[in-house]
Amino acid sequence: MRRISLSRYLIEEQRERGKINADLRLLIEVVARACKGIAIAIGKGAIAENGGVLGEAGSDNVQGEAQKKLDVLSNEILLEANEWGGHLAGMASEEMELPHAIPNRYPQGEYLLLFDPLDGSSNIDINAPVGTIFSVLRCPEGADPSQNEAFMQPGTEQVAAGYTVYGPTTQLILTVGDGVASFTLDRECGSFILTQENLQIPADTKEFAINMSNMRHWEAPIKHYIDDLLSGSTGPRGKDFNMRWVAAMVADVHRIMTRGGIFLYPIDAKTQSKGGKLRLMYEANPMAFIVEQAGGAATTGTQRIMEIQPTGVHQRVPVVLGSRNEVAVVASYYGKS
Ligand code: AHG
Ligand code: MN
Ligand code: MN
Repeated sequence: MRRISLSRYLIEEQRERGKINADLRLLIEVVARACKGIAIAIGKGAIAENGGVLGEAGSDNVQGEAQKKLDVLSNEILLEANEWGGHLAGMASEEMELPHAIPNRYPQGEYLLLFDPLDGSSNIDINAPVGTIFSVLRCPEGADPSQNEAFMQPGTEQVAAGYTVYGPTTQLILTVGDGVASFTLDRECGSFILTQENLQIPADTKEFAINMSNMRHWEAPIKHYIDDLLSGSTGPRGKDFNMRWVAAMVADVHRIMTRGGIFLYPIDAKTQSKGGKLRLMYEANPMAFIVEQAGGAATTGTQRIMEIQPTGVHQRVPVVLGSRNEVAVVASYYGKS
């Protein structure tokens, strides 16, 4: 079998398909290298030096969430890897209140990188899948990359997005706006190897993912939609649905990329004041870009996620994404009410 590494795939995207330039190629390679470092750190678990990498860091992030040691470590790995290459103007992360401009001692590049360094961090201590999510924007001419304003671009402006899922295998899923490709980490040689091109999400599904414990807090359209799914073959949908919830968006989205499905994290009475649970800039937008590039759809229920004009780096939004016909069904419940 001909093995195509991530490096070769990116060279071909640059040289033959003209989809990326050398700086964006470097950027993606560097993010992939950082993800390898994160995979290694995760894999050491409790036997890592200095007391292991599991458990709490003892600090909170800007969103008031307790940081795990691996949240902090993964953020540092991504920052350090991406600082000096000359491909970036700045970075924003779930774990940093303010954007991080590239220090003056390094050359400045044209791109902005946003990331959720460790997604699903409540899964770390139970040895269940976690991930990294990233999104790439251009830094507008004259914008200051240490300020939020530079990053305030809708998801339609993304030039690349991806995620790495750290499960039984480590897989990198990537789009540069030319479909979606999947790479599997060969742990022996340390390279990501192309394992699937042109991923396509089936348009229809019988599988949904939502945190059912929030049911009493949901708004009416979501309550009605889930009631109709639960009533199965004798209900209005006329078929039985199955449910899955990994509690790491990366892993739930990865299942949808693999076999279809719908993922919902709607706004509810608990998260109303914050605008939702998931973050637009480094969770919802990159996942929406990937899902759309694979023929799926991503909405808040009433608006295409990638068309939201952001107002803050840590802004939260309701998320409904996956198989496009099923996403359209959810939107129709919002239309009815
Ligand atoms: P993070 O670990 O980056 O804060 O993200 C966690 C998110 C997302 O990955 C997941 O879908 C969701 O939170 C899980 O929420 P519940 O705790 O409601 O299951
Ligand atoms: Mn997350
Ligand atoms: Mn996170």
